[in-house]
Amino acid sequence: MPGPGHFDAHADVYERARPPYPPALWERLRELGLLAPGVRVVELGAGTGQATGPLVDAGTVVTAVEPGPALAERLARRLPSVTVVVGTAEEVPLPAAAFDLAVVATAVHWLDLGVVLPAVHRALVPGGHLLVWRTAFGDPDAPVTAFRRTVAEITARRPGPPRPGPGELDTEEWVRRLTAGDHFAVRHVEHFRWSVELDAGQVRDLFTTFSDWTSAEVDEAAAAVRALGGRVLEHYVTPLVVLRAV
Ligand SMILES: C[S@@+](CC[C@H](N)C(=O)[O-])C[C@H]1O[C@@H](n2cnc3c(N)ncnc32)[C@H](O)[C@@H]1O
Repeated sequence: MPGPGHFDAHADVYERARPPYPPALWERLRELGLLAPGVRVVELGAGTGQATGPLVDAGTVVTAVEPGPALAERLARRLPSVTVVVGTAEEVPLPAAAFDLAVVATAVHWLDLGVVLPAVHRALVPGGHLLVWRTAFGDPDAPVTAFRRTVAEITARRPGPPRPGPGELDTEEWVRRLTAGDHFAVRHVEHFRWSVELDAGQVRDLFTTFSDWTSAEVDEAAAAVRALGGRVLEHYVTPLVVLRAV
């Protein structure tokens, strides 16, 4: 079973390959009054900073928790104003009532929520917010492309059951888990749909960052892009859940 160490082992590829989050998501967070200069943010599982960069650009003051030392090193180099703490969200002690906002971008599925939700609740000021989002690389509601048919064929051949836990788009179940224990209540839920065109090299890099893809599967996906003319249009979805501390 692949683990979160996968990302650290591919830190360089991760930094260049993971696409940024859609501008509409950042616009919504601004409209909800959550992003403003001086807002104190703790980000859990920051990776190389795909969400951290725009948070810094919005003028927020960010503390980033990231267990992968290679990822953390790149994050610190790329965004020197961010306080980077190397460790897991479960083990890093967060100061009480020190943050206005907690952010978890495409990392919630790695967290032990029974430990992390109370710790984040304690770390937030009263009425502070927890923002959870996660990109699903493949939109089930978009027209099925030839490339997506190949992706489905590749993943269908895998032995054993799929990764345990709810899928990226099982928002109802994620909301149930995030509100369990009565630390947080839902304020806003929205799914952002977006598209990106990728060439074979970009598919190779991006799919290498997926912890459940083997290198042989990545080779096959990149070969499919070349066979389809060298570029594919991909449709992705990023569900956002905004929660308020109660
Ligand atoms: C898919 S990456 C997402 C990185 C980044 N937030 C982004 O938006 O691209 C998942 C991240 O969660 C981190 N992670 C895994 N387990 C974690 C844990 N227990 N606590 C904090 N972060 C964790 C991984 O090291 C990795 O950087």
